[in-house]
Amino acid sequence: MNILVTGSRGQLGSELQELQPAHLGHTWFFMDLPELDITSPAQVEGFCRDHGIQAIVNCAAYTAVDRAESDAETAFRVNRDGAAVLATVAKGLDALLVQVSTDYVFDGSNSRPYREDDPARPLGVYGQSKWEGEEEIRRIAPSHIIIRTSWLYSIHGHNFMKTMLRLGSEKESIGVVFDQAGTPTWAADLAAAIVSILDRREPAQRYAETYHYSNEGVCSWYDVARAVMEIGGLQCRVTPIESSDYPTPARRPHFSVLNKKKIKEAWALDIPHWEESLKAMLSRLAPIADHP
Ligand SMILES: NC(=O)c1ccc[n+]([C@@H]2O[C@H](COP(=O)([O-])OP(=O)(O)OC[C@H]3O[C@@H](n4cnc5c(N)ncnc54)[C@H](OP(=O)(O)O)[C@@H]3O)[C@@H](O)[C@H]2O)c1
Repeated sequence: MNILVTGSRGQLGSELQELQPAHLGHTWFFMDLPELDITSPAQVEGFCRDHGIQAIVNCAAYTAVDRAESDAETAFRVNRDGAAVLATVAKGLDALLVQVSTDYVFDGSNSRPYREDDPARPLGVYGQSKWEGEEEIRRIAPSHIIIRTSWLYSIHGHNFMKTMLRLGSEKESIGVVFDQAGTPTWAADLAAAIVSILDRREPAQRYAETYHYSNEGVCSWYDVARAVMEIGGLQCRVTPIESSDYPTPARRPHFSVLNKKKIKEAWALDIPHWEESLKAMLSRLAPIADHP
């Protein structure tokens, strides 16, 4: 199968690139800005036609959650309109579109893990733009798989884990919010799940599914920070603070744990616990940090 990965230099795109050698049964095309802008119908259509693309994995997104509050135009252009461009091209080629979305489509008022059909009520521009991107895909693309994930991190790019490692080696103590509960997702695990779905999908079948995927378990950012310090052997003390003590331009849901029953059952996925995956990620990062 000829597969296009957009936004391929981001966290998730980079992890998909690392998996490529193990999946030579497919022909992969990894593209990012500036070569392939998902908001350009001409670029996307031209590339997909020229390369006989049969599936698109959209890892391209405007992911700056706080910046989106003051730059809604760009957030909607990439996350909603870009998704619509990909959906239109996928429809024209009868290709499968795999879209990655976010737990931030929810407002966090649930007291049990979110299911796929729980109502979306985003609290900010980023969540709203991702939700509208999902809706465009459902409206346009006859074959699509939307996977919502949460708290994504990788050895590539910027993320909370890497910030904690840096602060942990610079400071004696830090305060981290303990009133936002969710689950981290190692992008390498999500990438493997996506490839597994692509490997096992029925080529002639059309899909119109939304799934939730994160690592297993539930925690707060405070718990994650403590785990990073402990696994990383850092002495920095982590103290719990409330979100109101750490104001940010965008509001975040207080609870965004995702229920993964549907994706696990549909695709027989075995999902690692977040602590296990965090250890694996940090051990991969260590040699890079030792030899920059
Ligand atoms: N990060 C999280 O915590 C998180 C949580 C839940 C869901 N998600 C979702 O998971 C997916 C992957 O996230 P990620 O963390 O891997 O994102 P990321 O690291 O920010 O990577 C996104 C990539 O898309 C590129 N891009 C931006 N605008 C583009 C455009 N118009 N055309 C083509 N490429 C464009 C970016 O390039 P530039 O860097 O040059 O802008 C970047 O390389 C996204 O859909 C995101 O919404 C992320």
